[in-house]
Amino acid sequence: MSSGPFDFSPLFPGGLPAPAIKWTGSPKYNFTGGNNDPEQVPVEGLMAAADAVLRREGRTLASYGLASGPQGYRPLREFLAAKLKRDAGISCTFDDILIVSGSLQALDLVNGALLARGDTVIIERDTYQGALTRLDRLGVNVVGIPLDDAGMRTDVLASALADLKRREIRPKYIYTIPTVQNPTATILSEARRVELLKLAEDYGVPIFEDDCYADLTWDGRRPLALYAMSRSGGEIHIGSFSKSIAPALRVGFIVAPWDMLSRMLALKIDAGSGALEQMVLAEYCAAYFTEHVPQLRRGLRVKLETLMDALDEHFGTAAEFDDPRGGIFLWVKLPESVDVLKLYQSALAAGVAINPGPEWSTDKAHGINRIRLCFASPSKEDIRQGVATLADVCRQQFGVPTRAANIDYVAKAQGS
Ligand SMILES: Cc1ncc(COP(=O)(O)O)c(C=O)c1O
Repeated sequence: MSSGPFDFSPLFPGGLPAPAIKWTGSPKYNFTGGNNDPEQVPVEGLMAAADAVLRREGRTLASYGLASGPQGYRPLREFLAAKLKRDAGISCTFDDILIVSGSLQALDLVNGALLARGDTVIIERDTYQGALTRLDRLGVNVVGIPLDDAGMRTDVLASALADLKRREIRPKYIYTIPTVQNPTATILSEARRVELLKLAEDYGVPIFEDDCYADLTWDGRRPLALYAMSRSGGEIHIGSFSKSIAPALRVGFIVAPWDMLSRMLALKIDAGSGALEQMVLAEYCAAYFTEHVPQLRRGLRVKLETLMDALDEHFGTAAEFDDPRGGIFLWVKLPESVDVLKLYQSALAAGVAINPGPEWSTDKAHGINRIRLCFASPSKEDIRQGVATLADVCRQQFGVPTRAANIDYVAKAQGS
């Protein structure tokens, strides 16, 4: 035997994803990921909740699933059932809810229960990268439907469904982020919700509704969830505490009819999601959720305005975006001469991390001059400096923006 390090590589089965890259720390200006505002994590409240719930029920940690069974901590499911009724119009009981380890696990469970290689699903053209990478890994065909400012274009969806039917393909689901979409931050209008449900019903296709940003509309109002409006019962609804409280807690949930939920529960073979997080959330949220979220929203709005001002100042008309209806992301269109995959590399070298559009779109050519910027986690000062640095990098590499902050860079280069 050689005395060198053990070589695992001949043992890896085919089809494994490429190895992960080692984390070397966060970039100075980090506009990536779905991170939250550190200043808005309700640390004191979570500490008090942890203390209270552990004193009262800490000994239930001795059993897998606490004293609540495999679907998750019952008081958390009770909190969710009441909240979903109040905010989203969903009528369900704690028994219709499965607590999962972040809504990413919900994506895995829904996919695990419904998808096989070669299947087809319908999704929004610009969408969550975590959904896209999963579908790609599963070898599933993806049909992307464009969005406008009222969300998914249901006229295009109607044609896509008719076309698939002609080819005798029944899509396994229509995945949508209807309320504060990621990355476009649009909200599917009520009329479109009705159309989407009708189309799904007519073609016998389930709707997979990912609602993790729905608490974060600026005015606190949201349309009814698709799950609440459905007459067919062919909906799966998922949500998360990542965006309203904190993503590192890794607590999400699924609401679905029992014949779907029972399949997903059978696939969830991790003996339950982290119990302490569920207990602390239930304790905290029952008392403070409705007070915490409006405060969080106000703070996020201020950061968004800082970002939009900084883009106006440093990119001028070269950065196009709509004022989002809520959430934590701005979806920005840059001039067509900009290749954001190249910009991403040089920005990172200058300490600015951005999400390049092609990773968030089924249509890579559509995404190639778009970037997604998360404004929730960087400080206001870092937002300003990060955008100024990004504009400098972009100008050096692509010659745009040509005019920003009252400086005409073309004229300057010509010495006028
Ligand atoms: C649309 C969407 N779904 C799901 C997730 C996963 O969230 P988590 O696993 O933290 O609940 C995210 C995270 O950014 C998201 O944007």
